[in-house]
Amino acid sequence: MTRAEDQPGHVVAVFGSSGTAGAGAVEACLADPRVSEVRAVTRRPLALSHAKLREITCSDFGVLTAITHHLAGVESCLFCLGTSVRNVKGGDEYRTIHVTYALAAARSLLAQSPEASFLYVSGGGTNRNSRWMWARVKAEAEDRLMRISAIAITQFG
Ligand SMILES: NC(=O)c1ccc[n+]([C@@H]2O[C@H](COP(=O)([O-])OP(=O)(O)OC[C@H]3O[C@@H](n4cnc5c(N)ncnc54)[C@H](OP(=O)(O)O)[C@@H]3O)[C@@H](O)[C@H]2O)c1
Repeated sequence: MTRAEDQPGHVVAVFGSSGTAGAGAVEACLADPRVSEVRAVTRRPLALSHAKLREITCSDFGVLTAITHHLAGVESCLFCLGTSVRNVKGGDEYRTIHVTYALAAARSLLAQSPEASFLYVSGGGTNRNSRWMWARVKAEAEDRLMRISAIAITQFG
């Protein structure tokens, strides 16, 4: 991010802000003087108060119609929402969270802020042909996200 002193700061949206990756992203953004506002899209309140933080409560991450307007003016969106295969009932639920929700977020973001960047926190070793369900699902999310925009994929493993 480079920005002249007289320009407003960067506005960042974070999905999954109550989780490990998302909370770290929120903390880093709040501490960064180049960031003027952090919009945390969350289904439950964050135990956090900060002048730059704005919480956006979302009850259904598959249908973002009610909160889409909050993504106007966002320049970067960090999609840290996700979970372990251990926490879901099966592949359908895992796919809903990691593909359906991610695509809904990216599409809503780009409808409101067409120039915004979208970063998807994926996983190490994702592959459409993997023997592991989670790796196939995250690879599908990466492929589909990259088809709708210039999506940055961050892999941890
Ligand atoms: N942490 C790591 O070391 C690591 C390593 C590799 C990849 N990743 C990837 O990074 C992503 C986040 O991981 P994490 O470790 O930060 O997970 P986490 O601590 O369990 O946090 C998950 C976040 O996603 C939200 N979430 C989960 N299921 C949801 C659902 N069904 N509907 C709405 N929100 C939901 C949680 O909201 P609530 O708080 O409301 O439940 C929370 O904000 C995952 O995709 C994970 O695979 C993480």
